[in-house]
Amino acid sequence: MNSFSALMKEFGDRFNTFRFPASPASLYQPNDYFLSLGGKRIRPVLCLLSNQMFGTLSEDAYNTAAAIELFHNFSLIHDDIMDKADLRRGKETVHKKYGANTAILSGDVMLIRAYELLATINPDKLPAILSLFNQTAKEVCEGQQLDMDFESRTTVALDEYLQMIGLKTSVLIAASLEMGAILNNASEEDRQHLYNFGLNLGIAFQIQDDYLDAFGDPAKFGKTVGGDIKQNKKTFLLIYALEHAIGDDKIKLQELLNTDNEDKVASVLAIYKSCKADLWTKELIEKYRTYAMESLAAVKIKEEDKSPLHELAAYLIQREY
Ligand code: IPE
Ligand code: IPE
Ligand code: MG
Ligand code: MG
Ligand code: MG
Repeated sequence: MNSFSALMKEFGDRFNTFRFPASPASLYQPNDYFLSLGGKRIRPVLCLLSNQMFGTLSEDAYNTAAAIELFHNFSLIHDDIMDKADLRRGKETVHKKYGANTAILSGDVMLIRAYELLATINPDKLPAILSLFNQTAKEVCEGQQLDMDFESRTTVALDEYLQMIGLKTSVLIAASLEMGAILNNASEEDRQHLYNFGLNLGIAFQIQDDYLDAFGDPAKFGKTVGGDIKQNKKTFLLIYALEHAIGDDKIKLQELLNTDNEDKVASVLAIYKSCKADLWTKELIEKYRTYAMESLAAVKIKEEDKSPLHELAAYLIQREY
């Protein structure tokens, strides 16, 4: 059984050798640039971790893991256009560096490359993997559209927010785990428990991402802190503050949503603090982290064989800020 960090390294060593074709450089070089910025690669590692829980790590698992990571990177290139984000992984986003048109097309060709990798896997397994991959990809698009639709809405309910982050973020994390399990013939039940583990872990992870977008350390976050506030993203922080800010804060928050002033981020952050949206966000992260652990506990394999997934969860969801 490989540890989380051993598989992280193994996947990185293989994936980092991958290059897009040299020509036309204007199409492919942005993709090599983006992949060279790294990222945590948690989704492919989740696929490998769940694969080795049910047997020997296979070449199919590595190819599926790489396809998942390419799909994720494609979704980030397009997400940064939608979110008007200039910074990713501490560097310029693809659309900022090369223009939106190139970012669209380079992202598209990266997605096609993901399908080429998937097409190499054992024909016995391909229908199940492809069906889950496609379902997941459609759901990510649905989540991304809801996320944009919510920007212009004045209110969003908590369950709508949870549905949106479940779609845009969690289903890919969940499917990564399930694909690894499918490739080593895990039982239907274990597949479902792992999927639910990923779903809850992904929700905790996205709520944490929303928290860090507001309160993270700009030196460590790698993205522009305050980006969600500028875009009126309906994060849990904002949803909570819209419901719980009182007196002047309540009126001011409504006004701030209609402005684009320089002090918008600082003013919204102050309101988040005064209504304790930050504290309640941490509570919500903890709640979903606990749900995730309950789902992992239900998987019917030896407890000690789950330790790499425990390590990954601990790495992903910080307990202190
Ligand atoms: C970013 O995902 C998008 C979210 C779901 C928050 P990651 O934080 O996994 O991005 P990288 O790949 O490590 O940069
Ligand atoms: C991104 O959510 C989810 C996907 C890319 C599908 P965010 O927009 O919050 O992710 P970041 O913060 O840009 O990484
Ligand atoms: Mg974004
Ligand atoms: Mg987004
Ligand atoms: Mg974010």
